[in-house]
Amino acid sequence: MSNKDIDIDQFDPRLAAAYARQEDKEQQYDDWAASYDADLVDDLDYVAWRDAGDIFAGLADDRSQRVLDVACGTGLAGEYLQSLGYQQLDGADFSREMLARAKERGVYQALWQHDFTTPKQLEQAYDALLCVGLFSFAVNGAAWRQLDMEPEVNRQARLHGFRIEQVVAADYIRKEGIDARVLVIRR
Ligand SMILES: C[S@@+](CC[C@H](N)C(=O)[O-])C[C@H]1O[C@@H](n2cnc3c(N)ncnc32)[C@H](O)[C@@H]1O
Repeated sequence: MSNKDIDIDQFDPRLAAAYARQEDKEQQYDDWAASYDADLVDDLDYVAWRDAGDIFAGLADDRSQRVLDVACGTGLAGEYLQSLGYQQLDGADFSREMLARAKERGVYQALWQHDFTTPKQLEQAYDALLCVGLFSFAVNGAAWRQLDMEPEVNRQARLHGFRIEQVVAADYIRKEGIDARVLVIRR
């Protein structure tokens, strides 16, 4: 089964448009940045950043560690992690407009632009990464089951030498009934 077999039109039109678009994703997020929080958090009860943040905090006790928020978007997860006591937060995203919103929150020490479909030579080491919503359609709860993602994720883990320690069910966009899987990955 592929994404094409999932009825995208069942979702709120803003989500349906986002999920349907395969080209110019960077531009799509640039265009969405100004209304992203209002659309997703206020209107649709997007909670993945909070649920993933809670799971992260339960595993990463040391609040002084350096954390990279991968695909940080407008910085929802970073702001939440800061409220939980993390102080050394960086964020990265390919959308400059999303990064501009993240900067306004004032919670990240550094923000850098990068497309994670290409390799990146890091300028500094991080102790932990948090990544929320980057695989937002293919790995949402329904798609996780329908697309049978788990065997492929485990294959990639074996290939690249990391371990999927836990797969935790979590809420994603509550108003749309979309759930999520949080993968706890260790090297
Ligand atoms: C659904 S949003 C999630 C943003 C944020 N983590 C949150 O929870 O609100 C997906 C984010 O991934 C970014 N993104 C998508 N594909 C990317 C890529 N290939 N490289 C870097 N960022 C990407 C988008 O710009 C967007 O900010």
